[in-house]
Formats: sequence, structure tokens, C-alpha cells
Amino acid sequence: MNKYRVGLGVSGGIAAYKAVEVMRLLQKSGCDVNVAMTRHATEFVQPLTFKALNEGHVIVDDYDPANPDPIAHINFSQNIDLLLIVPATANIIAKFANGVADDFLSSTYLACTAPVMIAPAMNTTMWEQPATQRNIEQLKTDGVHFVEPVSGELACKTVGTGKLEDVDNIVRQALSLLEIGTDGKGNGENHPGGESPLLLLRKEGSLDLAREHVLITVGGTREAIDPVRFISNHSSGKMGFAVAEAARDRGAEVTVVAGATTVEAPAGVKVIKGISAREMFDGVMAELPSATVFVGAAAVADYAPANAANAKIKKEDKDTLTLELKKTPDILSEVSKRRKDGQIVVGFAAETNDVITYAKIKMGKKGLDLVVANDITQSGAGFNTDTNIATLITKNGQVELPLMSKREMADKILDEILKLRKA
Ligand SMILES: Cc1cc2nc3c(=O)[nH]c(=O)nc-3n(C[C@H](O)[C@H](O)[C@H](O)COP(=O)(O)O)c2cc1C
Repeated sequence: MNKYRVGLGVSGGIAAYKAVEVMRLLQKSGCDVNVAMTRHATEFVQPLTFKALNEGHVIVDDYDPANPDPIAHINFSQNIDLLLIVPATANIIAKFANGVADDFLSSTYLACTAPVMIAPAMNTTMWEQPATQRNIEQLKTDGVHFVEPVSGELACKTVGTGKLEDVDNIVRQALSLLEIGTDGKGNGENHPGGESPLLLLRKEGSLDLAREHVLITVGGTREAIDPVRFISNHSSGKMGFAVAEAARDRGAEVTVVAGATTVEAPAGVKVIKGISAREMFDGVMAELPSATVFVGAAAVADYAPANAANAKIKKEDKDTLTLELKKTPDILSEVSKRRKDGQIVVGFAAETNDVITYAKIKMGKKGLDLVVANDITQSGAGFNTDTNIATLITKNGQVELPLMSKREMADKILDEILKLRKA
């Protein structure tokens, strides 16, 4: 089998050690990897580490007399199918965006005709800096692909966006780009031998969602009564996050709009907070244009206090307190209304009685392609459990899913989405 050739560029950030794992995973997926490092990257990880695991010469400086190739930046860049930068510092991004070629890696970028994918990692302030964002926009305009950093605890002990994406996800996206290519054909045709590593993974059934962007709402919303109290529900987010994890594992790009949850989001998915129904609505509508599949797994409040108090409501002598509630914006209906060609819309119906009847009514009323109906009174189903029991309803019929883990159920839901896609 001919292999994909990946040029792995490593720049000088704290996450440089993770590039070693990226190289290993690419090798395991059947790629040949050549490594280029910036001088600063060698402060974080030794070239020898890559060399020992790869047998190739690791290029840091093409002026180095020990370098076997006198015009390394040209030969390196012309003999790869993808240039993948992990991690990318703010500095290397700035150099690429502005055509600076003052070291081996930046010269290689300028001399490269292969697709380029960049996985940035840096402190949140550096990431949010207008200069960095301008450079990223410029590179996107130039056709460079990005594996966006995620939110989490950073090396500098702050929490925010700037953490390197999970290495599995970087490799998955790199393989996906190699197979799909910039022409978007996606049949493994870009691979020199026709049998691409991604195609092999796909044959094993593991990356069958590589061309989907799945947008998922997760958890329960909180509707403020006053700054201290809110109306909410028992949703834990476990089912929605299970769908997110399964979609990620099957190669999809995943964005989650999360309300209140009792569990952590899986690594490698983009998470946007949408705590109230209104915030969740806004988050979904902002992301919807780029999604190919929408899954409404959140338990969104139907009604919210009409006039949330600005200060804590005090206990008075009255025995009753009346709250006026008003309807919240209907996310599912709006998603259906705004749906583009090919977008698949999936809803959940958690009911306590006449489950299938109510689910079918919801499907018709909200224009859903698939509804996951569950009777939350059944033991092992519904909120805050690790298992679920459900019926998947589409126009073509029903599939009964007996008691199973939410993760298993997530795959069944995705299987059904794929059937809809093929139909
Ligand atoms: C301990 C330490 C950690 C650093 N981590 C990062 C980082 O994660 N991301 C980043 O953009 N820069 C980081 N820097 C700053 C870069 O190393 C610096 O901008 C350097 O010039 C980058 O060079 P290069 O892009 O040629 O590798 C770090 C610096 C130090 C000393």
C-alpha cells in the first residue's frame, strides 16, 4: 500500500511533546512522517525523540552542515501530501500569515504546495489577541485548515480557549483532509495507492461520519427567577454528550451547545455555553449554518419567568407567590425552519405517557427527520442514568432500542442518521 506522506511541523509551545503522539498515531494509521522543528521547539522536546521513533532526520535548520539535504526546505515541502503543524505557536502563525521565511519551518510553508493544517495552542490572551485572530483569518483566506484549540486548563494555570485539541482528533482531521482532499471528493481518490489509511479505517466502520458537522444541544436549561433562583429540570447531559463522543469517534466535527450538565464534555468537541433557553437558542442559530446534522438532545424549558427580578426576591408574609411564565423560543422549530438542503434534524421526546403518540406529533409539528422517543418512567431510562431505552422514529418506520448504555444508543442514533443521509 502506498502511504500518505505527512510533514509534521513542531513549533515552540508547551504542547510540543504532544506532537510525538501525533507522529505515532499517524504512523499507526499508515502514514510516513517527516518532522521539522523550530529552534524554540527543541527547547521543549529533543529532536532525538522523534528520530528514535521515526528513523528519519529531523530538520531544524537547513544551514546545519549535518543536514544531509542541501536544499531541504524545497525537497521537504515538495514531497509531502500534507503539512501538519502541531502545536502552532502564535509566532509561527504570524510568520505564515505574513510570508516570513526566516527559518526552516516557515520557509517550508512558503515552498509548500500540499494542503496545510494547523493545530494552534497558546495562552488564552495570546489566542484572543486581535493580531493572532487577524493572522488566523488571513491563513483561512489563504486556504489553510485549522484544528481549533479547545477550552480547558492551560499550562499557565488559567482556564480558557487555547488548549491543543485532543491528539486523536487532530490525527482524525488530518487523515480526513488527506482522503477528502481540497476538492472534497472524499472517496480515497486522492491517495496515491487508492487504499488510503482513512478508507481502511472507514472500512472498519470507524470514520463513517468524517464529512459531517454535528451540532448538538445538551443538558438542561436554567431560567432565572432572580439572581439566586432558577427553574430547571433533571437533565444531566449524559445522552447528548454520548452522541457528541460517538460522532467525534466516527470522524465528525462536533459542536455542542451546553446548558447545565452534571458531567464533563468529551475531549475534542467544541463547547459553547447556552445556560438559558434564550442563550441556547442564540448559540444554536450562530452555529447552524455550518452544521450538516442537528441533534436537539437538551431539555429546554418551554416557559421561563416573564420578568426575572434583578434583586433576590424576599420572603414576605404572603403564603403564596405567583410567577408569570412566558414561552421560550422554540429551538427545534426554528432549526427546521432555517434548515438548508441536506441538513438532518433530530429531536428527542422524553415523555411520561403516550410516548409514541406524542413523539410522532412532535415530529410532524417540528418537521423532524428523526425523533428519539423515550419513556422516562421506565427504570434505566431517561434523566441522570447511564442507560436508556428508546424508540427511533423516522418517516420510514420505527426501531425499538432495548435497555443499553447511552454510548451504545448514541451509535444507534448515528446509524439511523447515516441511513437518512444515504436515502
Ligand atoms: C515555557 C514557555 C511556554 C510557551 N508556550 C507557548 C505556547 O503554548 N504557545 C505559544 O504560542 N507560545 C508559547 N511560548 C512562546 C514561544 O516559545 C515564543 O513565542 C517563540 O518565539 C516561538 O518560536 P517558534 O514559533 O519559532 O517555535 C512559550 C514560551 C515559554 C518560555
